[in-house]
Amino acid sequence: MCSVVGYVGNAYCKDLLVEGLSRLEYRGYDSAGFACLSADDNRLMYAKSPGRLIQLKELLDKNPMDGFIGIGHTRWSTHGTSTQENAHPHFDCKKRISIVHNGIIENHHTLRGDLLGKHLFVSDTDTEVVAHLFESLCAQYATCKDALLALAARIEGAYAFIILDNESPDQLILARHRSPLCIGIGEGQMYAASDPIAFAGKTNKVVFLPDATCAIIKKDSIELFDFKGNFLPLEVKTVDFAWLGAEKDGHEHHMLKEIYEQKRAIHATVSSLAAMGDTLWSSIGLTKEQSRAITSLSFIGCGTSWHAARIAQFFFEKIARIPTRVLLASEFRYMPFFPEQKSMYVAISQSGETADTLEALRLVKDMGMATIALTNVASSTLVREAGGFLLTHAGQEMAVASTKAFSTQVAALYWLANRLALEKEIITPEQMQAAEHDLFVVAQVLEDTIELYKHIIVETLAKRYAHKTKAIFLGRHISYPFAMEAALKLKEISYIFSQGYPAGELKHGPLALVDAETPIFLFSHQDPLIYQKLVANAQEVKARSGHIIAFVFEGQDELCKLADQAFVFPRVAPLLEPLAMTGVMQFFAYQVAKELELPIDKPRNLAKSVTVE
Ligand code: AGP
Repeated sequence: MCSVVGYVGNAYCKDLLVEGLSRLEYRGYDSAGFACLSADDNRLMYAKSPGRLIQLKELLDKNPMDGFIGIGHTRWSTHGTSTQENAHPHFDCKKRISIVHNGIIENHHTLRGDLLGKHLFVSDTDTEVVAHLFESLCAQYATCKDALLALAARIEGAYAFIILDNESPDQLILARHRSPLCIGIGEGQMYAASDPIAFAGKTNKVVFLPDATCAIIKKDSIELFDFKGNFLPLEVKTVDFAWLGAEKDGHEHHMLKEIYEQKRAIHATVSSLAAMGDTLWSSIGLTKEQSRAITSLSFIGCGTSWHAARIAQFFFEKIARIPTRVLLASEFRYMPFFPEQKSMYVAISQSGETADTLEALRLVKDMGMATIALTNVASSTLVREAGGFLLTHAGQEMAVASTKAFSTQVAALYWLANRLALEKEIITPEQMQAAEHDLFVVAQVLEDTIELYKHIIVETLAKRYAHKTKAIFLGRHISYPFAMEAALKLKEISYIFSQGYPAGELKHGPLALVDAETPIFLFSHQDPLIYQKLVANAQEVKARSGHIIAFVFEGQDELCKLADQAFVFPRVAPLLEPLAMTGVMQFFAYQVAKELELPIDKPRNLAKSVTVE
């Protein structure tokens, strides 16, 4: 999950590449590097630093360098720890070839073995192998293109790389297999990046490299070809985007800003879906008749997106009466697959770039199945590759911990379940309108309850729970996947070990963990039967001196009394309970991490966009 950037053109490139990297730092922040050819004599100059981009910037301030052609990188470590040696760019022995890479070269061990003895390796990375191999191939082949094709034939795995070759100082060499890479076309200049947001504001003309292709770019030309060497036509897209990400609107962290943006984001998402009318069907790539005939739904995703789908399973089964499965993309790919012709596969991903989700989508597509992408990024690979798509309108999400992307996914899926129910004549147009209204109401509840509880969380509760070493999250029915999401939120930003369980499973093992020191978060449900079961679970915990923090609905006094701390929520439409509780849950996790003075927007070891398997 690294990011790569490159530039060739009439301007000095250091500042614009560093700016591009700062926009892409969400993809990894273990180390960073930059290389360029000097504008005077094409001499290679470079700087690499472990740690955040800011450390590379400091290095570049101390050792100024610039040129009209350059490459840059931010790293999420896959091979080797975060050291200066392992930071990109990597070089061949003579430092003729500089390379930045996002992905994993799966056969790097074998390749390294073949090259050992003739080449000197200085890093633990898979990428350095490519630099040495390419240098050897350049010596064997007459043209850069032929050497590049030979390289593509030798390496296996996922990669998007940009190569700078001192001997061709007017061009950058690009190759892509399964990892994203695009080219921005400017006036007398070309940009290359993992994500076009790196050059937003400079150009909106973008060529997304198709999978398994290479390109050679000069300041005013692009040669695109497949791995057999066939030249390909350029499909230039006008991408309408702006870089707004750096702004925090006065908040200390992006995560807090994004927590507060959720009401607006849910409104934007629901309003845009409601305004689609019949264009909904062309967007998702189905006719109305096909949508009525869907016999089952399968959602595929990872992390928070998978949790959103687990919640949405209740929507599709209860409201639209469609049997629904929710699959973890990383597991699904290695399990037996039984395609059903009238089934619909929905890949769900905030970024639209998650490698496991993309690979799962490709697998399903290869079986001839209908696919839809649900994502927050219109220009993402998932949108380009799926049969149809639906967008959430959360706006750019910068913090690694997903907040508004989660709530808009849940809202969009609730809307879609109702829309399919309307099409199947299970609900009336009036009920559809009521469902949209319920979403606006719950968005308000989400926001109001943060306001209601923020003082006690900031002043008392965050301090009380920040130094706990573990936490348990319990729910039942639709509040169980929400409990898993809450556990993920707390663990990823506070590093407190947090585990979500179905409350009914407590006595089958997890009860052994209950003691007076371990906070147990319990998420209630409005259904009277499920509520009673949750009360029984709370009593079991209290009987063992457990400590309960309950998220309850108005009138649920019994559970409230059992709790050591309770957050009370207004009643909302059935199945929208998780959305009502979302704001307080996220705000609580945020404040605990803040109390611990942790890097909330960029937690250790993580990255926003997980583009390696
Ligand atoms: C969420 O807080 C996480 N950072 C993570 O689980 C994320 O949801 C997951 O990596 C999937 O990302 P995607 O939605 O972009 O596919």
